[in-house]
Amino acid sequence: MNELPASIDATLEQLRAQGYIASRDLATTVFLALRLQRPLFLEGEPGTGKTEVAKALAAMLGRPLIRLQCYEGLDLAAAAYEWNYARQMMEIRLMEVGSAAGASREALAQELFSRRFLISRPLLQAIDPLRQGPAPVLLIDELDRADEPFEAFLLEVLSDFQLSIPELGVIKASEPPIVVLTSNRTREIHDAVKRRCLYHWVDFPSAARELEILRLKLPGIDAQLARQIVAFIQGLRTLDLYKLPGLAETLEWSRALLELDALVLDPETVRSTLGVLLKYQDDIAKLQGSEAARLLAQLKAETGHG
Ligand SMILES: Nc1ncnc2c1ncn2[C@@H]1O[C@H](COP(=O)(O)OP(=O)(O)OP(=O)(O)O)[C@@H](O)[C@H]1O
Ligand SMILES: [Mg+2]
Repeated sequence: MNELPASIDATLEQLRAQGYIASRDLATTVFLALRLQRPLFLEGEPGTGKTEVAKALAAMLGRPLIRLQCYEGLDLAAAAYEWNYARQMMEIRLMEVGSAAGASREALAQELFSRRFLISRPLLQAIDPLRQGPAPVLLIDELDRADEPFEAFLLEVLSDFQLSIPELGVIKASEPPIVVLTSNRTREIHDAVKRRCLYHWVDFPSAARELEILRLKLPGIDAQLARQIVAFIQGLRTLDLYKLPGLAETLEWSRALLELDALVLDPETVRSTLGVLLKYQDDIAKLQGSEAARLLAQLKAETGHG
């Protein structure tokens, strides 16, 4: 396990060493969340590097990553814990077969609801005092996909790093995990959850930062092509599209262009690879009309290439 970063600059640097180039604002929020031991709540457009923060944090701090992917219908049994019903039944059978005359029903009941029969899921795993090694990074990913009642259940975990299990009592982390929550804001997350966290809106990157990320992730890419890609995508994000491309799309498109040995962005290359960038037919149709040509012309005027 590694020490927490000592400053915002150190946070920026250590994240970068893991291949994550954060904005200064994000690094500040991350730094404070670590220092204050508060969950980090990241909201933003898809593909802007929210999930990646948790992975980079785990790597830089030398801690395991425990991930809870949220979805509609996610419940306590899948997120936190479940009683091992089959094993409990077996235990009861064994007690019946063996002459367990001495054992009281009460003792049996107590035994049946002990840790031995508890199956831990991500939330319990993250705060389990019986767990070996350093406290993990707990990623609660895409919380907006879970149903609202699930958020109420999270409150205890987020504010006290503990879980109350009716049959067993309170299980509390001996060392609090580092918690990262993300949301794509398909709906608002309840204030009660947000209040317990430090909040940061993860925006699309500036052109300079996007170029830096692109060159870090694809070191082999031609400098001129990289600049054109970033300028084109930054231009795309100013259009009225149903779904704007994120960093994930920038990287994916760049990889595609490398595969095609493209050296410059020309209208034909752009047209034939739009499906890597845009995933809605209406958006693609818009681009295949005059918009792509206009963006390319603009790019040419700005960079003198193209
Ligand atoms: N600041 C960054 N520095 C380096 N790489 C980044 C950065 N932000 C995003 N990436 C890269 O972009 C891709 C998408 O990031 P990530 O999956 O974290 O996005 P997300 O915001 O969680 O998206 P979604 O909302 O769709 O889950 C990843 O491959 C990641 O490596
Ligand atoms: Mg994600």
